[in-house]
Amino acid sequence: RYQAVIFDLDGVITDTARYHYLAWQRLADTQGVHFDEAFNEHLKGIDRMGSLELILAASPRRYTDAEKLALATEKNEHYKELIATMTPADLLPGATAALDAARAAGLKIGLASVSRNAFTVLDRLGITHRFDYVVDAGTIARGKPDPEIFLKAARELGVVPGDCFGVEDAVAGVASIKAAGMFAVGVGDPRVLAAADVVIPDLTAFRIPCTAITNKTTIT
Ligand code: BG6
Ligand code: MG
Repeated sequence: RYQAVIFDLDGVITDTARYHYLAWQRLADTQGVHFDEAFNEHLKGIDRMGSLELILAASPRRYTDAEKLALATEKNEHYKELIATMTPADLLPGATAALDAARAAGLKIGLASVSRNAFTVLDRLGITHRFDYVVDAGTIARGKPDPEIFLKAARELGVVPGDCFGVEDAVAGVASIKAAGMFAVGVGDPRVLAAADVVIPDLTAFRIPCTAITNKTTIT
């Protein structure tokens, strides 16, 4: 029986994935790099500098570390403008109900986002108090798909990874959950999130996974 659920934030609980997309789009435009939804899909769940590296790899120009830092800061300033007006109305459908269901089932609730803006976003959404533990992205050495962030959340919640399930919208995020030895609930397109144990279109379909599903998945 599961004892904890660990949520991703961007693209799962709120549509900040859209804001990240818009901010990277503008940055890519200024650098003359072609950027679209398909490219953006690879950036989901990837930390800020990692995302920037992927975008700049598509440019013929070489960038110094100082230039990269300036571009990352520029993107983040734009992103901060976009999230500044967020309110609890920006919770995605089913998000509050999912958090309620997890609480009602007696699960510990964690948040594993590599975003350094996660605390701000939770605050704006008014849901900080609903989490037993929120990983501070600044303390993570290796971003998703490395399992570090989900393992840290489990450890801080006092639950072994096998008793946790993770909820993710990104390919890199699902890989991180699986590498941590947890059950993965994908949120989005099942063709994109094929590595997840179960995929739901959005949190309105969120159910606490039962042991039967886990056993079945372990066998196959
Ligand atoms: C992840 C997003 O949650 O956070 C990525 O999926 C983003 O798109 C990453 O790049 C880092 O966010 P931030 O706020 O630290 O730049
Ligand atoms: Mg995400």
